[in-house]
Amino acid sequence: MTDERAGERGPGPDRDRSFETREVHASARNDQYGALATPIYANSTYEYDTMDGPRGGHRYSRISGPTREDLEGAFADLEGASHAAAFASGMAAIDAVCSLLTGGDHVVVGESVYAETHELLTRVYAGYGIETTVVDSTDPGAIADAMREETAMVYAETPTNPTLRIVDIEATAGVVDDHPGDPLLVVDNTFASPYLQRPLERGADLVVESLTKYVGGHSDVVAGAVATREDDLAEEIAYYQYARGGTPGPFACFLALRGIKTLSARMERHCRNATAVAALLDGHDAVERAYYPGLESHPNHAVAREQMADFGGMVSAEFAGGREAAAAFAADLDVFVLAESLGGVESLAEHPATMTHQDFSREELERAGIPPGLVRLSVGTEHREDLLRDVEDSLDGLTS
Ligand SMILES: Cc1ncc(COP(=O)(O)O)c(C=O)c1O
Repeated sequence: MTDERAGERGPGPDRDRSFETREVHASARNDQYGALATPIYANSTYEYDTMDGPRGGHRYSRISGPTREDLEGAFADLEGASHAAAFASGMAAIDAVCSLLTGGDHVVVGESVYAETHELLTRVYAGYGIETTVVDSTDPGAIADAMREETAMVYAETPTNPTLRIVDIEATAGVVDDHPGDPLLVVDNTFASPYLQRPLERGADLVVESLTKYVGGHSDVVAGAVATREDDLAEEIAYYQYARGGTPGPFACFLALRGIKTLSARMERHCRNATAVAALLDGHDAVERAYYPGLESHPNHAVAREQMADFGGMVSAEFAGGREAAAAFAADLDVFVLAESLGGVESLAEHPATMTHQDFSREELERAGIPPGLVRLSVGTEHREDLLRDVEDSLDGLTS
């Protein structure tokens, strides 16, 4: 994990500057030739002048390297953290956070976290003697009720996937802080990105993120990161990063770093387009229910308005005609591509019950609030009118 680097390694980001300026200057600009973009240091090992230490401070690329260090510094800066560690995927980052748990610990997790996160806790970590209670994480009271003496972690994702519920981070941090066992609050910030929401500023101990999504932004990289303000946690995460070795290669770091430079500009377009798509879906005859935190009818709209700079690029819709209508709607889309993942410039549509959440049992789908007629849209940065026409044509196909 890299320490806050301002002032240490060339110009780099300056915390007095706005997010939009800091993201553009995310590269530390310490290259010997003055390259503005961080070069891809595609080497596994580094030369020592003497046995006392390597010449440039790095000794082996699983442990550290200049391209990854720049990404970690930039991510920490944007999340308002002092430390960050990058991983080969969002799941590897989440696994590093779960590695902080030991046998006998108890975890409280939201009911609609990403499917693999749910699997990791309830299947993999259950095998290590860690028990998980699944709750409605939008209700701080439900979290408080689920906590036990041995609760070591509360894990939340907001907005949730794919139902776009909003967890009140500050209220949840309050509940966690009141617990005598000093558990950790972890927030997955993938759906919002640090441009829209910074969980550490609201009391989370650790923020995790799939950089594959909005941060990378172009559907061309798989990577993840963890950030924190707490030195002891940073040290432990750095240890798991080093010991388990799930680190990203330099090309992945380069792509994630490049994505960071345009994050705010893309997020603004994602949000504008998603707002328009949600308004079109909301109240349409073929749609039973539209899910978007920006809709005033959304049950957590007030929390979203307070906690997020905007409402994000993800929209879900439950079709009145159930699974058949959802399939017909998705098949009819033309600009939206039928594919998993999210957060790229391309608009995507997916059917959670058969795609991203295919490993969920019927009970797990029900508990996560994922009906068979639900379609999730990752609204991209294309022209809004083209997206609206695409959705409208598909909706018309359902009602004609
Ligand atoms: C909210 C959320 N967290 C974590 C992940 C895992 O990220 P990755 O696919 O980069 O491992 C995903 C993937 O879709 C996600 O949606």
